[in-house]
Amino acid sequence: MKGIILAGGAGTRLYPISKIYSKQLTLIYDKPLIYYPLSILMLSGIKEILIISNDETIPHYKKLFGDGSHVGLKIEYIVQKAPNGIAESFILGDKFIGKDNVSLILGDNIFYGKLDFIYNAIKNNEGATIFGYRVNDPERYGIVEFDENGKAISLEEKPKVPKSNFAVPGFYVYNNEVVNISKNLKPSARGELEITDVNIEYLKRGKLKVEKIGRGVAWLDTGTPESLLQASNFFGVIEDRQGLKVACIEEIAFYMDFINKEQFEKVISQIPKSLYRDYLEKVLKND
Ligand code: DAU
Repeated sequence: MKGIILAGGAGTRLYPISKIYSKQLTLIYDKPLIYYPLSILMLSGIKEILIISNDETIPHYKKLFGDGSHVGLKIEYIVQKAPNGIAESFILGDKFIGKDNVSLILGDNIFYGKLDFIYNAIKNNEGATIFGYRVNDPERYGIVEFDENGKAISLEEKPKVPKSNFAVPGFYVYNNEVVNISKNLKPSARGELEITDVNIEYLKRGKLKVEKIGRGVAWLDTGTPESLLQASNFFGVIEDRQGLKVACIEEIAFYMDFINKEQFEKVISQIPKSLYRDYLEKVLKND
């Protein structure tokens, strides 16, 4: 299974900061937003990762992650020239995906809690597996409608009158058919290759599984200044209470055995003096 993080887009709702850098680099408590989706892929055991973004932001990601080898990953980068839609990921990522299956996570989506729903989907996926999460403001999302047996029967992108309160979060698991399906999509009325249209095609083929995510899992939004502050507060509270970091990619690499103790020590030695380094030293000492 390969992994793609789509981390471009205009992010204009965050103006003026959007003038100089992208939303996925903004700080969520103590680390850039993109660490959170990256850590989800890592915890799922995915080591080959493609980061897609605009040409201004790619150099920043390269500076943050390089080729990923220090944390046992193989990270590649591709430029998306314009925000032509989420499904363009699979066209741009065609060569990277090759004959493999692929999971896509949006660079601004944060999940926290018991993530077995993701790990199981990756293990058991046949066609496509997506998720449904109850939200208060369904008109802002892709929406899935279920029948009385809990089977998904329709999908709509940001409907004015939503048929349910179940939004589809930005984590999707696909078999290799996704590449061809995406190549055959037509742009929507807003001119984008819609991820919802990919999912509708899987639904038509009888190959779409939609799993409901329980209320014990937090799926956080990061589209506005308020929601960024909420996410920062959320992780600040949790990290402070437990004395453990969330989405600390070096710790996860060690925990997942992507790197051994020696490599972990080397990674730590290259981090400047900071609370982040102090934390990793504590992890090493307690091992
Ligand atoms: O967050 C989940 C929702 O994400 C889903 O429920 C929707 O079905 C899906 O369309 C998407 O809706 P958004 O309105 O959040 O999509 P947005 O255009 O904001 O893009 C999501 C992220 O992906 C954002 O950080 C920017 C990035 N992006 C988006 C597009 C369209 C790109 O990097 N390139 C793109 O072409």
